[in-house]
Amino acid sequence: MKYIDIINESTQSIADFIEIKPDIAIILGSGLGPLANEIENPKEISYTDIPNFPPSTIPGHEGKLITGTIEGKNVIAMKGRFHYYEGHEMDIVTLPIRVFSKLGIKNLIVTNAAGGIRDSFNPGTIMIINDQISLFCPSPLRGPNLDEFGPRFKDMTEVYSNNLITLANESAKKVGVEVENGVYSYFRGPQFESPVEVRAIRTLGGDATGMSTVPEAIVARHCGMSTLGISLITNKAAGLGANQLNHNEVMETAGHSEKNMILLVKKIIKDWNLQ
Ligand code: HPA
Repeated sequence: MKYIDIINESTQSIADFIEIKPDIAIILGSGLGPLANEIENPKEISYTDIPNFPPSTIPGHEGKLITGTIEGKNVIAMKGRFHYYEGHEMDIVTLPIRVFSKLGIKNLIVTNAAGGIRDSFNPGTIMIINDQISLFCPSPLRGPNLDEFGPRFKDMTEVYSNNLITLANESAKKVGVEVENGVYSYFRGPQFESPVEVRAIRTLGGDATGMSTVPEAIVARHCGMSTLGISLITNKAAGLGANQLNHNEVMETAGHSEKNMILLVKKIIKDWNLQ
């Protein structure tokens, strides 16, 4: 099947199911799933019931779409996302973004758990992503261009919307949640980075590192969507902390800090002046 037909088939099945027109799509990263509990009048659909959506294979990633409202705004949230390291090609990793675009959604919030590279970043730090390093990310735009979404050569100057970065910082201040701003750098995983890889990325300007988000943000930009990216630092990146890294630590820290993430994201959605 051609990729555009795959996109259309998945879109149709979701359109048949949902009763609202979502304005904001939210991707919930590792351990950040509880944000989904904030959705009012929720309606859930399992990935296993959506054609072409693979099931989630990672603990902390449940594998369902939830629609409803947060602070009076219509949202659709992904509890669990697809990663390259699971064996999916980039067209599957980014299929939900194409589908959201087809559903008419113009706004995206991507969240993730990440390793902190900047010295001042500790477990629990929340980082508003202001740019990204995609050097190690196979381009999700490789192959025939999908002209109906965007051009062959797409500008990446505002892969994260400046307006949304401003909104997020203002909302954070109003609600008393401390945030930092910084650059997210992509590694394919699933192995964590080596200490020298972390030092290399620090030299290149990276403040945090992770295994998601960048492919989705590139495709969202290609589709002309406005993206806000938020990283929750769950650990110091390899070589910068005392301990070796493990996924349980990532999940645990995400659990401790979820209150602040929820406060922040709800306030952002409340203050968001949707066009
Ligand atoms: N590296 C990559 N991905 C991550 C990390 C990390 O240190 N922490 C959480 N996700």
